[in-house]
Amino acid sequence: MGILGGNLRFVETNNNEIAARVPLQYPPQPPPELLFSDPTDGVYLGVTEFLNTPVYWNPKYLTNPHIVIVGISGSGKSYTIKTFLLRASYVWKANAVIIDWTGEYMDWVTQTNGKVISLGQGNYLNIMDLGGMKPYARIQQIVNTLDLLIDISRNEEQKRLLEWALETAYLNAGFRLDSNEQYDPLGRPLEPPTLKDVVKLLEEKLELEANPYIKRELQALIYKLKQFTRPGEDFFANKSTLSLDELINSGLVDINLAGLPSEPMRALGALTILQFIKEKMRTEDFRKIKGIRLFVVIDEAWKISGEENSDVVMIVREGRKYGFSMIIASQNPTDIAQSIFSNAGTVLILKVKFENFLNYLQGSLRFSDFVREKIQGFGVGQAAMYLSYYVSGNFSNTVIISKIEGETIVKDYFIMLNVIEGDTMGSVSITREEFRSKLRAKGIDIKSVENISSSFEKNNNRLDVIEFTKIMLLEGIERKIIVEFLKELGVEDQTIAKAIQRAQMKIRGGDKIVEVKI
Ligand SMILES: Nc1ncnc2c1ncn2[C@@H]1O[C@H](COP(=O)(O)OP(=O)(O)O)[C@@H](O)[C@H]1O
Ligand SMILES: [Mg+2]
Repeated sequence: MGILGGNLRFVETNNNEIAARVPLQYPPQPPPELLFSDPTDGVYLGVTEFLNTPVYWNPKYLTNPHIVIVGISGSGKSYTIKTFLLRASYVWKANAVIIDWTGEYMDWVTQTNGKVISLGQGNYLNIMDLGGMKPYARIQQIVNTLDLLIDISRNEEQKRLLEWALETAYLNAGFRLDSNEQYDPLGRPLEPPTLKDVVKLLEEKLELEANPYIKRELQALIYKLKQFTRPGEDFFANKSTLSLDELINSGLVDINLAGLPSEPMRALGALTILQFIKEKMRTEDFRKIKGIRLFVVIDEAWKISGEENSDVVMIVREGRKYGFSMIIASQNPTDIAQSIFSNAGTVLILKVKFENFLNYLQGSLRFSDFVREKIQGFGVGQAAMYLSYYVSGNFSNTVIISKIEGETIVKDYFIMLNVIEGDTMGSVSITREEFRSKLRAKGIDIKSVENISSSFEKNNNRLDVIEFTKIMLLEGIERKIIVEFLKELGVEDQTIAKAIQRAQMKIRGGDKIVEVKI
């Protein structure tokens, strides 16, 4: 500060702060530095209405990574989520778990090569799984969750009986209630009990019970629990068929709840998955990860996002430090718990008509009447985006996006060449559509084209050139056509020759080497 003396002094400051201090240049939107910091580290959404500034979503600058999306039915909420997840998976390889109430994401997830898990259709989820928790802690969660669905805690006796039966079931299965390391004497992991064991314990108790009051409560409790254990409806009372680790590490994962027979069942499925995700989140260290590790999507599921004490709220409170982001979409902003709303670093408002909802949104996000009017007049895909930045400044926190620009699923098939020594290209790619029409043009029948296509898709759209050649040969495709096809993709002659030779070796069990000339 020396030479200036007086009250003036130099301070080091960063660009964002400077940007925030010159608000008048960009009155209707946050400064461009914040909207498009680094395209390789953000999710593109569209351009702003006033200055055509591209908008990239980057949680680095936001107070937290959670996103609330509101808008009337048909305004573009689900479309926005799909576009967003696809780009996030390209930019950060982000994973996502979508809690899909009605099965509307199923086809799309399948097209992205993601994983669809349909509960109630061959997949079970044992709600007594511990997911790394101590039985004591898990018992409290189970009691709270069941209470939301079948009303237990209003009756102290039933609650006490349920807790007793859950504890006894874990103890009978060899678990210690206060430990999260659970092995049998031979060091093998213990098998958790199921709700069926719990019901059985309660029935045994009922047989022996003399007190008429307790007898009645036991009967009532058994009756309530049995809706989850009846054959054919025991989706949550059998050994789990899905692995949690896979769930949060498999790209886009759709938890399809539509096949479950009732709303309480769907809520139970959703809440149980969220509880496991929450525990998993707490045990893993993702802090060094760029961008977002996992998006958890809840679309139109007001039943599980309205409760102040829910697991959704817990994920929202703690998610930031673990790289977990929650995306919650709803037609009705007042159905979303207050603490979710106040913890959302991003609120995306599509068309909203009801004055009540607009009052609520404007009251909490403080946008101008001008923006309010715009929101009422929005067409499909138009959005006002509220962003809660770390830096504060004299700029508007709300920006209007002309249209959320959709992302289409690119389906490239890759043929990996790096299995052949001396190859200089590494891999070649072709879009799925091109691949299919090329093969068809060479006279290959549709059935073979389907088979080869599905081999790619089963392998994450990648096949090594030897395997690819082998599959082609096994489909009865002539060598000449295979050579031609690979040449057209730009594969080097030497690589093709070696690939064919090795594919033939594989087919014949490696007993004969055939020289191939091109
Ligand atoms: N940004 C957009 N660009 C193009 N089409 C869109 C856009 N947003 C939504 N749509 C289309 O509008 C329809 C309704 O969108 P959807 O996302 O299902 O609405 P919501 O989930 O809000 O009910 C769909 O057919 C969707 O493809
Ligand atoms: Mg929708």
